[in-house]
Amino acid sequence: MSERLQKFLAGAGIASRRKAEELVAAGRVSVNGKVVTEMGTRVDPGADLVVVDGKPVEVHERASYILLYKPPGCVTTLSDPQGRPTVAQYLGGVKERVFPVGRLDWDAEGALLFTTDGDLANRLAHPRYGHRRTYLVKVKGDPPHGALDRMLAGVRLEDGPAQALEASFHERVEKNSWIRVVVGEGRRHLVKRLCESVGLDVLRLFRPEFGGVSVAGIRPGHTRELRPEEVETLRRSAGLSKGGKPDATPLALPRAARRHGHGAPEPRPLREPKPEREPRPERAAKDRRQRPAPRGRGGGGRKR
Ligand code: URA
Repeated sequence: MSERLQKFLAGAGIASRRKAEELVAAGRVSVNGKVVTEMGTRVDPGADLVVVDGKPVEVHERASYILLYKPPGCVTTLSDPQGRPTVAQYLGGVKERVFPVGRLDWDAEGALLFTTDGDLANRLAHPRYGHRRTYLVKVKGDPPHGALDRMLAGVRLEDGPAQALEASFHERVEKNSWIRVVVGEGRRHLVKRLCESVGLDVLRLFRPEFGGVSVAGIRPGHTRELRPEEVETLRRSAGLSKGGKPDATPLALPRAARRHGHGAPEPRPLREPKPEREPRPERAAKDRRQRPAPRGRGGGGRKR
């Protein structure tokens, strides 16, 4: 089946659709040996040879990549024999048979990737590849002196040694603190166990991004499809793209959704509440006349 050239290029992870149009307009793309600059050109991915800057574009079966902002209160599986709420409830609009890459605990929240791309999923989740995962952990009070250094030095857990690749203070919130912890494996409850082993009391666990793709702008319980350049970022972070090396560019980490108590975070209102109108002087005077006299301490109507 044929498709528009710029859509094909975007789908192959070469560039965003807009950038792909620029590549075509600049005469950097050829189809079956002929330079093509016309935007409407259609190609058949199964039959035509598309070349960008002298390099043939590899045709993969088009995979799906979906990012969910997992709220707490659901298990990372598509069906649960124990009948608990699962992440599947948030994938209603997704038609493809995607599966989760790795897992987040029942009470953990943040970036959870779903895909049909088995190669990439394997690279991102398999312990052999040591893919880096960044977490923000809310801990009770201030981290005790030396706790983060002990995580960095390595600790002994019941299933073997474990170590944080990075551990740093992130932010103070009222009486508690957020710390940033990076690990290179996905053992069960690893971050919680690392923290607890050095005396930290874990209150919340939030994964702000996965493989360089952030949940900034997504509401808890919502999904979005990755853009082609994000798929490329993921592939780079997994060491799968042409450049080969994981991307070391630091990402600005979004904050966890604010939440009170222990339930799933409330969705933010779709519309901001309207700002209150300044009263016009004559209306304010009328309001003052109609308003009942204040009662209690300091009020003008106080009886002595
Ligand atoms: N570490 C944990 O303890 N829990 C998670 O969900 C992920 C990492």
